[in-house]
Amino acid sequence: MPTQTAEERPILEVERLVKHYPVTQGVLFKREVGRVKAVDGVDLELRRGETLGVVGESGCGKSTLARLLLAAEKPTAGSVRFEGRDIFALSRRDLRALRRRIQMVLQDPYSSLNPRMTVGDIVGEPFDIHPEVAPKGERRGRVKELLEVVGLDPDHVNRYPHQFSGGQRQRVGIARALALRPDVIVCDEPVSALDVSVQAQVMNLLSDLQNEFGLAYVFIAHDLAAVRHISDRVAVMYLGKVVEIGDEEQIYEHPTHPYTQALLSAVPVPDPDSRGWRDQITLEGEPPSPIDPPSGCRFRTRCWKAQDVCAEEEPALTERDGSAHPSACHFAAEVEDTVTT
Ligand SMILES: Nc1ncnc2c1ncn2[C@@H]1O[C@H](COP(=O)(O)OP(=O)(O)O)[C@@H](O)[C@H]1O
Ligand SMILES: [Mg+2]
Repeated sequence: MPTQTAEERPILEVERLVKHYPVTQGVLFKREVGRVKAVDGVDLELRRGETLGVVGESGCGKSTLARLLLAAEKPTAGSVRFEGRDIFALSRRDLRALRRRIQMVLQDPYSSLNPRMTVGDIVGEPFDIHPEVAPKGERRGRVKELLEVVGLDPDHVNRYPHQFSGGQRQRVGIARALALRPDVIVCDEPVSALDVSVQAQVMNLLSDLQNEFGLAYVFIAHDLAAVRHISDRVAVMYLGKVVEIGDEEQIYEHPTHPYTQALLSAVPVPDPDSRGWRDQITLEGEPPSPIDPPSGCRFRTRCWKAQDVCAEEEPALTERDGSAHPSACHFAAEVEDTVTT
């Protein structure tokens, strides 16, 4: 096999990544009584310039995964490689260099910006940590340019976060994430807290910036519809694991994992004639606790296809019969598209 060139190699490679949080009891003598299996064996790749959507219900480990990708926390096991280097084994100096290249946009633009700082100081703060990127004399100009790039008035550089709307604050957060010219931005539900009317504007901005700066995104959302148009590929998570991954067509038109099918059936289909399996699946109840996930397949307690084998054997995330993309189900198959009209 020919060796991979730097161009072909994914910019991020996640292998068997695990993050467990201890659950303790007692005030004085804390005892570990369990572990929250927030991320429990995730394999992923992010290619240069692509958008990887990561979708799953609240509590399935998306934000934990995001923090691990940024090396904001140490994993319990497994690795994340950025351009081939394990980010958890970097020296302080190399970690600092890494932090220039991978940035994050958070969910809540109301609580993630310091209310006592002007937006100019917020957007320019990364230059304090990385002065080599913008010499002191150039900073003001750079900050104004960044505000302009995200569609804000550069003359508002001395205003405070409370003087902006939710959508504008999220633009401030995006300008800050762009300041150091990163290669990767991890967007953790960046529009979930915004009014529906401004969600599309912020999504469009993120798309435009991606084209302009060649950014790769890990784009986290809790429903599939939200990432459809921005994602090149989508990973569906359930209780700390990726259960299906594929390109847009594979995930939205030919999903093979029952969980993905259930999530899609909750997406309204405008044309009644095109309805089929999407109408027929309802996801019941809440996901089980990540402290004590079901044996075998974690989805089996909510799955209409579950058989004995599902309790005994954990299905691997691999290509299954007749499908070109990985799915972690013993009975992975496209649901027949029977139109019931
Ligand atoms: N610092 C932490 N300590 C203990 N448990 C945590 C911590 N962070 C997240 N969790 C737990 O891990 C699970 C996954 O959380 P999270 O990654 O925030 O999920 P998501 O972003 O998909 O909603 C949840 O059960 C959550 O309560
Ligand atoms: Mg989250």
